[in-house]
Amino acid sequence: MNTRVLTGITTTGTPHLGNYAGAIRPAIRASTQHDVDAFFFMADYHALIKCEDPERIARSRLELAATWIAAGLDVERVTFYRQSDIPEIPELSWLLTCVTAKGLMNRAHAYKASVDQNTAKGVEADDGVTLGLFSYPVLMAADILLFNANKVPVGRDQVQHLEMTRDIAQRFNHLYAPTSPLFVLPDVVIEEDVATLPGLDGRKMSKSYNNTIPLFEGGAKATRAAIMRIVTDSRLPGEPKDADGSHLFTLYKAFATREESQAFRAELEGGMGWGDAKQALCERVERDLAPMRERYDDLIAHPERIEEILQAGAIKARSLATPFMAQIRDAVGLRQSATVAKAGKSKAKSGGKGARFVSFRDEDGSFRFRLLDAAGEELLTSEPFAQPKEAGRITGLLQSSDANVELVIDGLRYRVMVGDELVAYGRAGADTAERDAGMAHVRETLAAMSQAE
Ligand code: TRP
Repeated sequence: MNTRVLTGITTTGTPHLGNYAGAIRPAIRASTQHDVDAFFFMADYHALIKCEDPERIARSRLELAATWIAAGLDVERVTFYRQSDIPEIPELSWLLTCVTAKGLMNRAHAYKASVDQNTAKGVEADDGVTLGLFSYPVLMAADILLFNANKVPVGRDQVQHLEMTRDIAQRFNHLYAPTSPLFVLPDVVIEEDVATLPGLDGRKMSKSYNNTIPLFEGGAKATRAAIMRIVTDSRLPGEPKDADGSHLFTLYKAFATREESQAFRAELEGGMGWGDAKQALCERVERDLAPMRERYDDLIAHPERIEEILQAGAIKARSLATPFMAQIRDAVGLRQSATVAKAGKSKAKSGGKGARFVSFRDEDGSFRFRLLDAAGEELLTSEPFAQPKEAGRITGLLQSSDANVELVIDGLRYRVMVGDELVAYGRAGADTAERDAGMAHVRETLAAMSQAE
């Protein structure tokens, strides 16, 4: 079976050279492996948590989509979509919210950082914290679990979110699908060797440091102008340069082959001037970027093509999400009225897998049990027993193929007999058809349980 690899990109900015070499290019490469099913999406609901500028959100969604496509993403092969085009994501997010401990969210780094800042400022701990920020990890869990991703490549700062996703998935499975889990527990993939490119000043290239080199926006001119502003040491042309100590060389290496890098190193050590070195970097980067930029400009000029690709991506994603969501809704008990009444028919197919007896103590002190099917629907309630052992003996008999178990109609109800002994009653039907469906379901369930013995 193929590995499902899924990752999301928050749509708040314009991709720069560092995003390309550090995230986009390796992700596209990884998606071409034959045993990988890749899911890439734009986390635009997440973007709303950080950004309240509609124009910027809209622009960023467009630019990001165009960038990924222009950079060579095979949209036929991978599933490429916008989070906000998949209504099942917020739907699942709510179901997960209902099983997520608030205390778990209290421990999220991003939230704790806000609280710490507020405390330092002497304002209220939750000042400026929205519920969106607080429950950010739940939405992320929904992104991942809805597609049962096996692997999620993310930066280090996201590792805790993956741990939370696993926690939430485990809890949901335990509550609603104890025997055959609904959700896969995803593994985090930390992109260790993915170079974080240095920016103009040598620190990590990041919008927040204002040291980025544009990728496509502004054209070749803007990329070139930024490269010319890269900070270097003051060694003059003719003086040998320290290649490894220069972030210009690091940038070059991110694009060049090993041989090209070796040649460049030799030139730097041989005294190449920084002006010429920048020119060489420009040319090397342009060789990769130029054909992509052409595609990018073309896409930005025809946003309807981007839209078409994303709509097709949403359809592809939803072909998985919609049926899976139906299963999840069913598991928590959000079922169509008709299915509840006909539970006997539909559930019989599941072969009683996951059905179970649960015992409880009644108000009068007697011991009873219920038989629940895989979905947690109550099928039978037992008669009272004086001792738990007695109740246990009966549940044992009901699951053994040797015992003489009979269902006997009693009006709209039915009795469950073991030999001559009345041990339980089945659920009353609204009519005889419903009662009979219920009886069939109980027979199937008990038969499956005895086979599993
Ligand atoms: N939170 C991620 C980030 O800021 C983006 C993201 C949203 C994501 N949903 C995801 C990443 C699901 C991986 C899987 O980088």
